[in-house]
Amino acid sequence: MRTQVAIIGAGPAGLMLGRLLQLAGIEAVILERKSGEYVLSRIRAGVLEQGTADLLRKVNIGARVEAEGLPHDGIEMCFDGDLQRIDFMARVGRRVTVYGQTEMTHDLMEARKASGATTIYEAADVALHDIDSDRPRVTWRKDGVTHTLECDFIAGCDGFHGVSRASVPERSLTLFDRHYPFGWLGILVDQPPVSEELIYAHHERGFALCSMRSMTRSRYYVQVAEGEKIENWSDQRFWDELRRRINPDAAERMKIGPSIEKSIAPLRSFVAEPLRFGSLFLAGDAAHIVPPTGAKGLNLAISDVVMLGDALTEFYGERSKAGLDAYSGKALLRIWKAERFSWWMTSLLHTFPETGAFGRRIQRADFDYLCGSVAAQTSLAENYTGLSLG
Ligand code: APR
Ligand code: PHB
Repeated sequence: MRTQVAIIGAGPAGLMLGRLLQLAGIEAVILERKSGEYVLSRIRAGVLEQGTADLLRKVNIGARVEAEGLPHDGIEMCFDGDLQRIDFMARVGRRVTVYGQTEMTHDLMEARKASGATTIYEAADVALHDIDSDRPRVTWRKDGVTHTLECDFIAGCDGFHGVSRASVPERSLTLFDRHYPFGWLGILVDQPPVSEELIYAHHERGFALCSMRSMTRSRYYVQVAEGEKIENWSDQRFWDELRRRINPDAAERMKIGPSIEKSIAPLRSFVAEPLRFGSLFLAGDAAHIVPPTGAKGLNLAISDVVMLGDALTEFYGERSKAGLDAYSGKALLRIWKAERFSWWMTSLLHTFPETGAFGRRIQRADFDYLCGSVAAQTSLAENYTGLSLG
């Protein structure tokens, strides 16, 4: 089997790259380790930057995000019960859209299915070969048979635990890693959201976030200590803790109910440089992780593949390698800005075991500065709604 671009992973990065290449007349095959149903069962983030929502429309799969996505013109920031709204529209004239990553993945999968493009699900033991040459290959096993795909390029869109980054010789990558000594305990509940906008809260007991998936389904998180066990968190304990950490008004009007999903996710910041090794290009979680506090993970995966899609389109259209050569450097500029923003939001809003009284005063000063400075609010709004691509 032969194709132009082999894409590893059918998460948002792989599927969006597939869509962009298809619209540019470039052939690609997607190889995914899991089944389509499994991919869609993963509960992930839910905030689209303005540019991500616009892109869905641009690639002709915008109907559902248009109908069902919730446009948000701002967020609430809360510090020890004090509230400050950040007005995105007023500050930067842009907004975000609350729309589950799962929904976006579903839209991309449906469009791909309808187009007849090849996606191979449940591809086991995917392996990359000759990536340092211009004739790379990918092999995998399915139904007891080993298959081979020859291609011009491989796009590694297979997430943090994927095979693509692991296929690059160790000495050719530099890894940057920051571990946070806590996780997020999240629940999903079929109750209306407590507030029209998201509430990001700092409290001395820890961070809390009130988010949503729709006007009838809410997503809530609380910071928990590293190594915390999910069995220790009854729904009642979760609700009590969440309500303690947010502003009293919101706590009082919050509608609670039985959780339909409950899980703990660790937080980390991670970047692998460069994003290219020979014929292999990394994009999305395969190359970087951000803590979820700035809602950047999904959006960053999408901006990577927009840049990679443009570079591949330039290669096939004009036989120019300039875009491909520039991809890693250009994408990393934006990635590091999103890393910085996510780290900053995380640092402001969480309690750190080692922070001490001085650190807490600095966090409070950071919040007070934000409340009193249009410039600081503009900076937050600019980053949250999404920086430009170039
Ligand atoms: N072979 C084939 N597919 C693989 C392999 C492998 N060895 N390893 C992983 N995959 C698949 C995973 O099953 C998954 O479907 O690659 C896909 C990667 O998807 P994501 O983890 O969703 O990563 P990405 O597409 O980069 O999306 C960005 O942003 O909101 C964050 O972490 C969140 O998933 C989100 C990410
Ligand atoms: C979510 O709704 O899951 C969500 C929203 C905002 C974040 C992180 C997660 O910053």
